[in-house]
Amino acid sequence: MQLHVANHPLIDHKMTLLRDERTSSPVFRELVSELVNLLTYEATRTLHVEPVEIRTPVGPTTGSRCAEPLPLAVPIIRAGLGMLDGFLKLMPHCEVGFVGIRRNEETLQPETYAKRLPDDLAHRQCFVLDPMLATGGSLAATVDFLIEAGATEVTAVCLVAAPEGVELMQERFPGDEVNVVVAALDERLNDHGYIVPGLGDAGDRLYGVAD
Ligand code: PRP
Ligand code: URA
Repeated sequence: MQLHVANHPLIDHKMTLLRDERTSSPVFRELVSELVNLLTYEATRTLHVEPVEIRTPVGPTTGSRCAEPLPLAVPIIRAGLGMLDGFLKLMPHCEVGFVGIRRNEETLQPETYAKRLPDDLAHRQCFVLDPMLATGGSLAATVDFLIEAGATEVTAVCLVAAPEGVELMQERFPGDEVNVVVAALDERLNDHGYIVPGLGDAGDRLYGVAD
């Protein structure tokens, strides 16, 4: 797994607003969307394109367009859904699969409750969306599903990562088939598996307390 930490003052500015406990859910959702726009630029650096012949008003030229098979975006429900609109704004031709995972807050193990993915992901670039990479269990489980379906290129777009989660991803996926693009690499996990300083429970901050 290769890690790319965005190192950009505008991303840092928006991340600070996002982390602030006083930020309301509507503003939090808007900031997530803006941050995903910015991170998508980095995450799509190796997007598959093919040449296309067009004419400008001045004459013919060869451009490029997104190649088939079309890429697949995979938000991890719930919090990853908050990143989908921002991602699709820049990648409107993407198709979308879904994985529903919630972390058991006692064991910190991922529990999958939904999965709707194409059967065959051979040759398709996959983009997993989840704001938080904490222990790494939820992201690793999702990447396993994609690789089982034949994916060979998976890029995860996350907002905050803990070193513990990055380490787990590197152990589980030692090759270069998995990339993780993050806005910030934080200090550590606390005793409850929350990222420090992090931003709290991303799903709750996007959508309110579920239970
Ligand atoms: C959060 C987050 C990740 C997961 C990260 O989801 O969105 O999916 O925790 O933790 P991990 O790296 O230790 O697996 P959560 O399980 O809280 O579910 P939610 O999105 O429905 O709130
Ligand atoms: N999930 C969250 O939403 N936040 C964390 O800090 C860790 C896991």
